[in-house]
Amino acid sequence: MEKNIQNNDLMNKIISLCKRRGFIFPGSDIYGGLANSWDYGPLGIELKNNIKREWWRRFVHNRPDVLGVDTALIMNPKVWEAVGHVQHFTDPLVECRSCHLRFRWDHVKGDKCPSCGGELTAPRQFNMLFKTFIGPVEDQSALAYLRPETAQGMFVNFKNILETSRKRLPFGIAQVGKAFRNEITPGNFIFRTREFEQMEIEYFIEEKDWETYFNHWLEEMKRWLKDLGVAGDKVHYHEIPEGDRAHYSKRTVDIEYNFPFGESELYGLAYRGNFDLKNHMEKSGQDLEYTDPETGEKFLPHVIEPTWGVDRTVLVAMLEAYQEEQAPTAEEGETDLRVMMRFPKWLAPVKVAILPLSKKENLSDKAREIYADLIKDLVCEYDETQSIGKRYRRQDEIGTPYCVTVDFESLEDNAVTVRDRDTMKQERTKIGELKRYLKDKLG
Ligand code: GAP
Repeated sequence: MEKNIQNNDLMNKIISLCKRRGFIFPGSDIYGGLANSWDYGPLGIELKNNIKREWWRRFVHNRPDVLGVDTALIMNPKVWEAVGHVQHFTDPLVECRSCHLRFRWDHVKGDKCPSCGGELTAPRQFNMLFKTFIGPVEDQSALAYLRPETAQGMFVNFKNILETSRKRLPFGIAQVGKAFRNEITPGNFIFRTREFEQMEIEYFIEEKDWETYFNHWLEEMKRWLKDLGVAGDKVHYHEIPEGDRAHYSKRTVDIEYNFPFGESELYGLAYRGNFDLKNHMEKSGQDLEYTDPETGEKFLPHVIEPTWGVDRTVLVAMLEAYQEEQAPTAEEGETDLRVMMRFPKWLAPVKVAILPLSKKENLSDKAREIYADLIKDLVCEYDETQSIGKRYRRQDEIGTPYCVTVDFESLEDNAVTVRDRDTMKQERTKIGELKRYLKDKLG
C-alpha cells in the first residue's frame, strides 16, 4: 500500500539531492511551484535519456520484430470513446466533509479522512481524462483529451504499419512518450504525477500463442530490471486475480517495487486479447484484420502489452543507486559522509569528470585539452573549483564512474590519474591511451 512520503528518510534524501545537484527541480519553481509537477534538470535529463535510449536500443533496434512510432498526444476523441476511456477511465473519489480534501478511496485506510479524521462522503467515480478544446470555440464539438496512455496511438496505426512494413505475426509496435492523467492524489515525488512518460509495446500475436509471448515479455522485463541494477528481492510479481482484471484480459501481472512509501506498481504486463483492435474496427468501420500469408485466413491479432513508466524507472534507479559511507578525508584519522550514486555505468548521467589539481594556468590548459577531446565521445564534466577532495565528493554524489585528475607530473610524463568511483582506486594512464582506456572500462 502506497503511503505518504513525509518523514521518509531515503525519499527526502533523494528529493534533496535531486534539487541540490540538478537532477530534478520542483516545476514552476520561481512561482512557488505547481503541486506535483517536476522539471528534469541537466543531470536528470541525461539519466532519463539513458533509460529511454537503452530501452529503444534493446527493444526496437536490436529486434527485427519490433518497430517504433511517435504518435500525436491529442487524438480524435472517438479513439477514447471506442476503448471505453470516456466512460470508464475512472478512480473512486471521496471528499472530507470537514476539511474538503479529496482522496482516492482505494488509497484510504479505514473510513475517516487521513488528514483531519473527519467524515468522508460516499465514493463517486471521477474520470481522469485531461480535457482540452481544439481551436477557438470551447464547446462540446471542440472537446478533446490529452492521451492517458501511449498505447492507443499504436493500435490506431496498426493498419498503417502492417501495410507499410509488411511484417508478419508476431510483431510489435513500440512507443516512448508523454501521457496525462488527472490523478486525484498524485504524490510521492515523481512516482505519481499528472504528466508522465511511458515506454510501451503492443505485441501482436495469434491467439493460440498468447502464453508463450506473455512469458517471453515477462522474462524480458526481469532482464531489464536486473540491468537497471535493481535488487531482485525488492521486486514482486503480482498476479492480478480474475475478478480484478479487465474483462478482456486472461492474465495481468503488476510488477511491483518495494518503494520507501510501500509496495507499489512499477511496470505492468497484460494480455489484452483483441479488445482494442476489435473496438477500433467496429467504431471506425475500417478493416483491421490480418491475413495469414500462408493460409489466407483473416483474423484480428491478439496483443501482449508490456508497459514501463519512465519516471518510475528514474525513481527506482535513484533509490537503488543511493549509498552512504564513512570515508577517509585528507586529514589523518578523520572521516566524513560520502554520498554516492552507484548507478550502473550505462546509466550514469556523466561518465567522466576532468579535474585539474590546481587552477594554475598550464594545468588548466592541459586539462581543457583532454576535456575537449573526450567530449567528442563521452558525456564529461570539467571542474576546477574547490579542493580536489570536494570535487571527488561532488562527482560521487552524481554517480560519475571516473574522475581524471591532471597534476603537475602530467606536464612531465603526459599521464593522468584515473579514479574509480566504486573502489576509489587510482591508476596512472598515458593521455594518448586515455580515451580507449575509459571506453573499455565504461563498456
Ligand atoms: N497501456 C497500459 C497502461 O497505461 P498503466 O498500468 O495504467 O497501463 C503503465 O500504466 C505504467 O505507466 C505504470 O506501470 C507506471 O509505471 C506508469 N504510470 C501510470 N500512471 C502514472 C502516474 N500517474 N505517474 C507516473 N507514472 C505513471
